[in-house]
Amino acid sequence: MPPTPPTTYRPSRNWCPISTPQPARRRTAHAHHPACRRSTFAHRRSRFQGRRGQRPSVRSGPSTARHCIGEHWRRPVNSDTRSDSRLARAIAVTNGKGGVRKTSIVANLATRYAEGDRGYRVLVIDLDPQGNLINHFGLADHPQNNGGLGLVTALVEDQDLPVIHDVRPKVDLIVGGPRLKMLENAATFEEVIEAGGLETLFVQRIAELVDAAGYELVIIDTPPSLGLQQALALHTARYVLIPVGLDQDSWDGVRGIGPLVSRARKNGNPDITYLGFVVTGLDVNAKSYIEDAKDYIESLELDPPIPLFDTFIRYTPTGGRARNFGLLVHELAAKRNEFELARRKALRDYRRGNTDIEVPKPIAMTVHDLADDYFDLAKEVLTKINQHEQAASTAEGE
Ligand SMILES: Nc1ncnc2c1ncn2[C@@H]1O[C@H](COP(=O)(O)OP(=O)(O)O)[C@@H](O)[C@H]1O
Ligand SMILES: [Mg+2]
Repeated sequence: MPPTPPTTYRPSRNWCPISTPQPARRRTAHAHHPACRRSTFAHRRSRFQGRRGQRPSVRSGPSTARHCIGEHWRRPVNSDTRSDSRLARAIAVTNGKGGVRKTSIVANLATRYAEGDRGYRVLVIDLDPQGNLINHFGLADHPQNNGGLGLVTALVEDQDLPVIHDVRPKVDLIVGGPRLKMLENAATFEEVIEAGGLETLFVQRIAELVDAAGYELVIIDTPPSLGLQQALALHTARYVLIPVGLDQDSWDGVRGIGPLVSRARKNGNPDITYLGFVVTGLDVNAKSYIEDAKDYIESLELDPPIPLFDTFIRYTPTGGRARNFGLLVHELAAKRNEFELARRKALRDYRRGNTDIEVPKPIAMTVHDLADDYFDLAKEVLTKINQHEQAASTAEGE
C-alpha cells in the first residue's frame, strides 16, 4: 500500500514557521513572530509580561530588589570645579510654570534615593512660597513648619538653618512657605550685601550644612515664577531638571530659565548643567505626544542641546491623592491592598444598612505604575549625573 501522503499545511496569514504544523487552535504562539503576534491572545499576555519584566513591579511592597536605588549608582567622583564642591550633587527642579509636578518629583525622588541600607542621605530644600512640599510628607502641622520664616531668619541673623530631621528615614527638609517672600527684602540688608549678596550667602550656608551633616544629595524645589528664589536654587545647584507638561504654557515657563542659569554660571556656579526635560502629566494612551515634545525640543535649536528623559511621569489622579494622604506615591502603592480591604469592609457595612459609614474612594491600580515612573526617573537622573561626572573627570585628566 502506498504511504499516505502527508497532510499539506497551507501557510495562512497567521502561519508561524517556528511552530510545528498543528490544528490552529492548538498551535503554540511565538510572541516574537509577527504572525503569531497578530493572532493570539497569548501574545498579548506575553507582551504585557514582557513590559512588566522590563520594569519590575513594586507591587509586592518595599522589600523588592528595586527597593534600594543606591545599588544603581556607582559612587561618583567629585568633579565640581567651583570652590563649593560640597554641592556637587545638588539638583534644582525648575520650570517657571506651576502644576508641572516639580514638587511631586522633588518629594518622590528624595525618598526613593534615601530608601534602604545603601540609600543616600538627602537634604530637600523648599524654596517655593507656596510651601507645598511638606504636605507630601504629611507634616503640614509640624511645629517647625513656620512658612519659611526660619530660613529667612537663619540667613539674615546668622543662625542655624532650620532643618526638619527625618521627614522620612535619611531625608531632612528645609521648609518653605509664604514667608520666603521676605527674602526680597533681606537681599537689601547691609549684612547680606557685605557677605557678597543673598545668593552667595545662601550657597555658603547650604554648603556648610551639607558638609557638617554629610548629605550626599541635595534636591531643591522652586516656585513657578522666575525670581529670587529660582536664582538662589540655580546658584546652589550643579544640575537642573526641568519637568514639562504637554501644553505650550509649560514650554513658555522654560524660557526664562536660560538667562537665570547663565547668570548663575557667571556668578560662581560655572559647572551648572542641564540634566534634561521630563515629560509629566502624560496620558499613557497618547504616547505620541512624546515624539511631539522631541520635535519641539529640536525646533528650539538649543546650544548645547538639552536631552529629553526616556522616563515620563504619567497622569493619574492617584498622584494627587498620595499627597492628600501625606504619603509618597510608592508608600501609597505599598499600602493599596490594606486600603482596599478597609474600603471593601466599609462598603459591605454600608450595604448592610450602616449608611452613616463613609466609604472611601478606591485607589486605582495605576498608583503602582506611577510609583514605577518615579523609580525609573530617579534611576535615570542618577545615571545622567554619573555620566556627567565621568565626562568631567575624563576632561580633567586630559
Ligand atoms: N502623576 C500625577 N497625575 C495627576 N496629578 C498629579 C500627579 N502628580 C501630582 N499631581 C497633582 O498635580 C498638581 C500639581 O503638582 P505639583 O507637584 O504641586 O506641581 P508644581 O510643583 O509644578 O506646581 C498637584 O495638585 C498634585 O497633587
Ligand atoms: Mg510646587
